[in-house]
Amino acid sequence: MPTLFDPFPLKGVTLRNRIMVSPMCQYSAVDGVVDDWHRAHVAGLARGGAGLVTVEATAVSPEGRISPGCLGLWNDAQADALAPVVGEIKAAGAVAGIQLAHAGRKASANRPWEGDDHIPDDDPRGWPTLSPSAIAFGGGLGKVPREMTVEDIARVRADFVSSAERARDLGFEWLNLHFAHGYLGQSFLSRHANRRTDDYGGSRENRARFLVETLRAVRAVWPEDRPLTARVGVIEFDGHDEETLVDAIETVRDLKADGLDLVDVSMGFSTVDAEIPWGPALLAPYAERVRKEAELPTATSWRIRTPRQANDLIANGQVDLVAIGTALLADPHWPYRAARELGVEAPAATTLPPQYAHWLARYDAS
Ligand SMILES: Cc1cc2nc3c(=O)[nH]c(=O)nc-3n(C[C@H](O)[C@H](O)[C@H](O)COP(=O)(O)O)c2cc1C
Repeated sequence: MPTLFDPFPLKGVTLRNRIMVSPMCQYSAVDGVVDDWHRAHVAGLARGGAGLVTVEATAVSPEGRISPGCLGLWNDAQADALAPVVGEIKAAGAVAGIQLAHAGRKASANRPWEGDDHIPDDDPRGWPTLSPSAIAFGGGLGKVPREMTVEDIARVRADFVSSAERARDLGFEWLNLHFAHGYLGQSFLSRHANRRTDDYGGSRENRARFLVETLRAVRAVWPEDRPLTARVGVIEFDGHDEETLVDAIETVRDLKADGLDLVDVSMGFSTVDAEIPWGPALLAPYAERVRKEAELPTATSWRIRTPRQANDLIANGQVDLVAIGTALLADPHWPYRAARELGVEAPAATTLPPQYAHWLARYDAS
């Protein structure tokens, strides 16, 4: 029976434990470039003891950013600034991951603490958005996107590839493609956003085509020994959950056939009418089902708060990794606290760098 603190090997990398820092946008970049905030934030999380640190959703093109403050990886300046971040993660003993993303119809938005809504069309900070169909998300994100042409689709796929090459050359060891949360990949898969009648819409296979082709193209440049993973929204909580889940599982199987190594099970967020049953570890049953039916290593997040809860998800075989978000903002040393609470031997030395572990070993014993 695996535990939260057992190492997790996947392809050529081994995580020191089953805790993953879930990607978390900081909305603090200028022109997509990381700055002091990101360096301190990511280093702090890496020093907290998680096995994997995933750098936030990083846009593959300017129009793929959620907000003007989102990270990008489409030019050399952005890549150069990310290099020390990779170094900090590795120096802290974690595996360095990054999430590549295109925000689709949810792009061109204000930062969450500045409204989380679309930047008005007449505001020069915003930009035109793209999506499979010209259907707005709704609510505060009411901007109508332009329906992508087949040439747009090919160009965005190529953008994912060139960002993946930059991530590879920077030494990232783990790549996550963002196909969830109502952004571009999810929008192709979702009936709420995709009404196309060509090869990229209609049947489940057609709606999955953008995801599969993008993954396949990225796999061709992403080293075989480094995990290629994807975050997929497998449920919308819109009253059609079984249908959405079955579609998602089929899609994960297709992605696996093209080289996906792990799926991070998340929500679709493709409709403003979702009724999400918020509660502890609410996605665990769906993650477990994806893991069993797609037969692929699986991670999940959302409301995993306590070490015991996280350990149970691993020990019960529901998931292979737990992705922790807000609990790590509240306490970047959550993995250390978890090691203490779960009775791991030498919790400080197992999770923290010597500058902290040396002193906390005495604190643990006192
Ligand atoms: C500040 C913040 C930023 C986030 N940014 C991203 C992101 O860049 N990519 C992503 O896939 N999810 C993002 N999420 C979702 C988290 O990765 C995570 O799935 C979510 O917070 C649920 O986990 P939790 O209950 O442990 O917070 C973000 C969440 C927060 C709180």
